Amino acid sequence: MPDAIAVIPQPADVERTGDEPFVLTEATTVVVDGRPDLIGIAVLAADLLGRVGGRAVEVRYAENSLSSASGVVRLRLVDSLPPGDEAYRVTSRSGRIDLEARTPAGLVRAIVTLRQLIESGPGGVMQVPAVRIQDAPRYQWRGLSVDVARHFVPVRDLKVVIGLMAHYKLNVLHLHLTDDQGWRLHVRSRPLLTRLSSSTSVGGDPGGFYTAEDYADLVAYGAVRGVRIVPEIDVPGHVNAATHAYGELNPTGEPTDEYTGIEVGFSRLHATLPATGPFLADVFSDVAAMTPGEYVHIGGDEVLTMEADEYATLVAAASAAVRAAGKKVVGWQEIAHTPLEPGTVVQYWDTRVDPAPFVAAAQAGALLLMSPGSKAYLDMTYDASTELGLEWAGHIELRDAYDWEPSTLVEGVPAESVIGVEAAVWTETLRDLPALTQMLLPRLAAIAEVAWSAPEQRDWDDFRARVARQAPFWDRLGLSWYASPQVDWTR
Ligand code: ACM
Repeated sequence: MPDAIAVIPQPADVERTGDEPFVLTEATTVVVDGRPDLIGIAVLAADLLGRVGGRAVEVRYAENSLSSASGVVRLRLVDSLPPGDEAYRVTSRSGRIDLEARTPAGLVRAIVTLRQLIESGPGGVMQVPAVRIQDAPRYQWRGLSVDVARHFVPVRDLKVVIGLMAHYKLNVLHLHLTDDQGWRLHVRSRPLLTRLSSSTSVGGDPGGFYTAEDYADLVAYGAVRGVRIVPEIDVPGHVNAATHAYGELNPTGEPTDEYTGIEVGFSRLHATLPATGPFLADVFSDVAAMTPGEYVHIGGDEVLTMEADEYATLVAAASAAVRAAGKKVVGWQEIAHTPLEPGTVVQYWDTRVDPAPFVAAAQAGALLLMSPGSKAYLDMTYDASTELGLEWAGHIELRDAYDWEPSTLVEGVPAESVIGVEAAVWTETLRDLPALTQMLLPRLAAIAEVAWSAPEQRDWDDFRARVARQAPFWDRLGLSWYASPQVDWTR
């Protein structure tokens, strides 16, 4: 009896066809039309299959190869699929695998699905069971927010995170680039931000920042894996790194001291100072110009020392700067207290407060991104014995991260306003990649399934069994992960 198919997130439609499996051999070849936008993806497919299968896989262009050749993984753009950029189909059988999608992004989803299907067969061969999978995502926004401000996350580590995101079909990497403890992105018009405010982190740990080239590298690395970057510049609070670099942002005209603690809510911009408007306009315009994606995040959370009117003025100024640069605005839940343009994305996070303004924003035309702290904040401890992480939103065991429904979590939210689901990982206590992945794995896989799979496709017991089979993959990558007692792990 073959093992069950164990893809995460659960695809819409999976059928075992009963044919013989496809066996990966030295002759296995990825075949693709020689279009520029497909070559990078074919190389990615060959690389991923080669690494899982333990041998190099070649890429060939369709015109040079016989379609009847055996051992072929064929990548192709087709129209005969459900609508949506990320819909895809995988058909595997002895000698041939077809990966089909409407767009290159869809092909990436097909490739990672194939990668998850590879299993070891009789005699240690690597093989793919004969299946037909047809699939498309429930939500268009399936994200992970990473706080690179409290502790800096170097490019090489973020690439590991992007790889994991792509593996679970997440498509938005939201970078929380600025906070009281550090400014992590070079901004051309305001060079002192990184010159004076990037070397610090929580607890006196070393800092760091991304140059324009680093950022472009991350954008490109994500793009080929179907992961786009949404940069967050958090204003008008969480700004001590900015007010430390530019004294003109403070009423005294003097820079604030650097900050390496973990309190929130004390720092702020000032609407009446002449330097504030140009600062917002220049910073958001530069960050937008570096970002090919359509969204820029303005933060807006936890401004505890400002009257509502001034807060609304500053949110409006930041939003106007983003829109002037041709981008759409995302902000944390608190911006729902201010007038918003329709189509603004409001990110729900604080499960402790009255959600009425958030619901009202949706009714007035905002789109809602669901990141409930008590389900999707992956820096929360798993249980009372977890050494890393915080617990203000409670413990989040794997099942808590899995068993929730984005469209009904907040009463009164119109289901069609929900644009998607985003996990978040805040790094006050997370100092390196092992600490980060220990919190992400296995919960990132759970959130990915909440975001991708239809509610009727989701089942905790079935997920438990599938996620157990991810452990060898994480081990092979050398990643640190949490062996939740809720799962019978395969090791
Ligand atoms: C947040 O957790 N302060 C958005």
